Amino acid sequence: MQNKFAERARLVKSSETREILKVTERPEVISFAGGLPAPELFPVENLKNACNAVLDEEGAASLQYGTTEGYIPLREAISQRMKDIGINSTIENVLITSGSQQAIDLTGRLFINEGDTIICESPTYLAAINVFKSYDAKFVEVVMDDDGMVMEELEKKLQKHPNTKFIYTIPDFQNPTGRTLKLERRKRMIELANQYDVLIVEDNPYGAVRFAGEELPSETF
Ligand SMILES: Cc1ncc(COP(=O)(O)O)c(C=O)c1O
Repeated sequence: MQNKFAERARLVKSSETREILKVTERPEVISFAGGLPAPELFPVENLKNACNAVLDEEGAASLQYGTTEGYIPLREAISQRMKDIGINSTIENVLITSGSQQAIDLTGRLFINEGDTIICESPTYLAAINVFKSYDAKFVEVVMDDDGMVMEELEKKLQKHPNTKFIYTIPDFQNPTGRTLKLERRKRMIELANQYDVLIVEDNPYGAVRFAGEELPSETF
């Protein structure tokens, strides 16, 4: 039988993340390659209690189909959290996804045309690169120092690549470097994005897991 896969499937390569996770499943391996949460910190009892409470209180309704955008009280809680960190959003701006991979995939599907450039930190999150590659994006990397992406370099890249669609950035405890973008650079990134008419896609899984120091704002200054 002839290869029946869609054209775009040729862009989907085997995932390095999956290969890394395969190795971490071997009991003798302590892997520093994949960022796995410490299993002893998983709140197993709390989750059990939460599940029981939902089933006791909501019964069958909790297992029924819901709206595509997600459970409204959860969207309200997220919208409130966004407001608390200075992002002016309402629940219309919140969409619940099955983890970040789905969110990143939807972002790629919505914004990337074949050959568009994405500017990212060097190095950046492997799993996001793989998704954006599947939409035929080109990558341009910007060097970092201890305070995150270097803005002079970002500006040079924006000048050089006028077909940039967005800057993909992990400003808080960046993966894999752990660096946090300092406040003045956040302001500068927004200025540059406006000046060069590109979007900023902020991936922020770790901002709320801060053990010391002040949380830095995302949007409103
Ligand atoms: C930058 C970044 N985004 C997203 C994720 C994963 O998020 P999720 O658990 O929602 O898939 C990670 C986890 O390693 C990450 O480092």
